[in-house]
Amino acid sequence: MNWFSATLGSSVGKKLMMALTGLAFIGFLAAHLAGNLTVYGGKAAFNGYAEKLQSLGPVLHLFRTGLIAFALVHVLTGLYLFLLNRKARPVGYNMDATAGGRTLSSRTMPYTGILILAFVIFHLFHFTFVDKTATTVFDLVAAAFNQPAYVFLYAALMIVVGLHVRHGFWSAFQTLGVNHPKYMPAVSAASIAAGVVVALGFGLLPLIIALRY
Ligand code: HEM
Repeated sequence: MNWFSATLGSSVGKKLMMALTGLAFIGFLAAHLAGNLTVYGGKAAFNGYAEKLQSLGPVLHLFRTGLIAFALVHVLTGLYLFLLNRKARPVGYNMDATAGGRTLSSRTMPYTGILILAFVIFHLFHFTFVDKTATTVFDLVAAAFNQPAYVFLYAALMIVVGLHVRHGFWSAFQTLGVNHPKYMPAVSAASIAAGVVVALGFGLLPLIIALRY
């Protein structure tokens, strides 16, 4: 137990927590995107998916509790590491892209993270914490994306999510020790692919919903 709390208290342990909770969120995003894609099947398919989720009852509650716990760990640890980093290095390194991990997405991680936190809170009030007795999830989503401002807002934020996922994916594999020169090109390619799939997969949905429904 001492070993366990010492590991979690160390900065390596904190990076490990960031990596594991971050990969769990990428898993959530993959499932959420797959579910959202049912919108291409029309109103019945999308509402059917939403009802199936609700019918999971206690399993859904357990899953939501896990998501909240993971979000707390990820956000608080991320903020702690960011502040620690700034305190230790107030001027910042004069590094360039040849260092490997320095990209637009790596440099903006704390800011894209804060934007995503704000987006998720807004998103929950937009679609989840809404009285759905006189409407359906499909009607809510279709009404929202028939307003250009929401299409623009969601599309822009999905680029932010894609940037965060791109570096997060890469960094998680570094932390987990998959940083052998043999595997790094594949990890880099997979991280770019993950970011693009998230940005385009989610980002195009509002536009397509606006045009189709
Ligand atoms: C175009 C993009 C997106 C659309 C159309 C969308 C749509 C929805 C809808 C309709 C719900 C409510 C489902 C229900 O109450 O039955 C929902 C829930 C949720 N969404 Fe999204 N979403 C999008 C992107 C995202 C992204 C990028 C994230 C995370 C960064 C996210 C996180 C969540 C969370 C955490 C929930 C609550 C899940 C739960 O009920 O336990 N969504 N989304």
